[in-house]
Amino acid sequence: MHTIRLDPLGEEHLDGLAALVDDPDVQRFTRVPVPPPPDMPRRWLARYEQGRLDGSCEGFAVVDRGTGAFLGLALAPAIDQEGRTAELGYVVAPGARGRGVASAALSQLTDWALSELGALRLELIIDVDNAASKRVAGRCGYEREGMLRSVHVKQGLRADVEMWARLAERRIGYTQAE
Ligand SMILES: CC(C)(COP(=O)(O)OP(=O)(O)OC[C@H]1O[C@@H](n2cnc3c(N)ncnc32)[C@H](O)[C@@H]1OP(=O)(O)O)[C@@H](O)C(=O)NCCC(=O)NCCS
Repeated sequence: MHTIRLDPLGEEHLDGLAALVDDPDVQRFTRVPVPPPPDMPRRWLARYEQGRLDGSCEGFAVVDRGTGAFLGLALAPAIDQEGRTAELGYVVAPGARGRGVASAALSQLTDWALSELGALRLELIIDVDNAASKRVAGRCGYEREGMLRSVHVKQGLRADVEMWARLAERRIGYTQAE
């Protein structure tokens, strides 16, 4: 697998973010608005900086361990602290695709969410046509739970999406207090 590390998203990643928002696959398969507003990279960063403070989300840059180059994003766009559940996501810069970066990033992000967040359930919401992303999910131990039809993804886009999830334990039962 590719040698990467996850760094907390910061000002130094604004150029990297700017290079992602115009990519056709990012526009097709993520919640980035189309067309992206000119200040989209800064909005993206502000959202994750705020989320880090209030615990509602967390964002990391995926960085090449050797060169320090920005390769993409590993995100927890929605964290439910009480429910110990998080939605995760990932984006790889077009020039870095096809060599295991997303799989390495999701693997590290999953470890972080299970250990640091103490999450019991991790979710990925993947467009039915996003074959590469489904491959990444399966490789990292996520299982497809089902398909949700005509989900509102963003303005102007409803899509059929799949719910993929990974649990901290194989099965968590509900224990009723006696
Ligand atoms: C999806 C995405 C993150 C994958 O990044 P990546 O670094 O290329 O992923 P990896 O190299 O780790 O793995 C991709 C896997 O999908 C496979 N793949 C790539 N394109 C494919 C396609 N069109 N159909 C089927 N499989 C495909 C690759 O062969 C690889 O599988 P393998 O390692 O078993 O051969 C990247 O394409 C991306 O950023 N897309 C736009 C944003 C996005 O869709 N994010 C996910 C939202 S849920």
